[in-house]
Amino acid sequence: ERFFALVPAAGSGSRAGQPIPKQYVELAGRSLIAHTLAALAAVPELAQTLVVLAPEDARFAAAVPGFAGWSARCGGATRAASVRAGLQALRERGAGEQDWVLVHDAARCLLRPEWVQGLIEACRADAVGGLLAQPVADTLKRADAQGRVQHTQDRRELWAAQTPQMFRLGLLAHALDAAGEAVTDEASAIEQLGLAPRLVRAPLDNFKLTLPEDFALAELILRSRQA
Ligand code: C5P
Repeated sequence: ERFFALVPAAGSGSRAGQPIPKQYVELAGRSLIAHTLAALAAVPELAQTLVVLAPEDARFAAAVPGFAGWSARCGGATRAASVRAGLQALRERGAGEQDWVLVHDAARCLLRPEWVQGLIEACRADAVGGLLAQPVADTLKRADAQGRVQHTQDRRELWAAQTPQMFRLGLLAHALDAAGEAVTDEASAIEQLGLAPRLVRAPLDNFKLTLPEDFALAELILRSRQA
């Protein structure tokens, strides 16, 4: 049994307000995705990392000089499609159905190797697999189309799902095939099979860079780590 990382990096990042896809924005001296891949490369348990790129991607090689993992230009129209294609690319490179795949968003570039190791330790003996996640701290409101509160959600049982999310290759491929395009993470597809992924508490700084203001905060954190 081996562990592989799969990094979907084929999104356009339209919410980020950047002139180039967000994975290629420079932060603290290197591209966002270079930070992500450096963290994964420092995890000794991982046999290899596969990056899923858009078919028309022309930036990866320059953005991640010296990348020693695998890359495949097989990204699809949705995140789920990109991950499905990535699983197939892993099979073509020798990964087995029982091997573990850790799917990690390129856009979560503050990842630290020890968080990945913590997830692996917590889930490697699990029958289903699991994910990094955070108990929700804010009080959650359901809104109507006019931005008025309709309802307050009980937050005590709520977690925010992050990545990495780790599942066995065969199970994950089956789950994503059955789930269609609407799922926004791997765990949702697994849940739709009636299985219950394990939640592993993540640190606060494992956020996904999505909106313009996320980039300045991430840069501050990266620079403070370098200091
Ligand atoms: O858009 P969002 O922030 O949810 O994307 C999460 C991750 O999935 C990003 O790393 C993005 O590049 C990737 N993605 C992808 N293929 C898509 C859409 C998103 O690989 N079609």
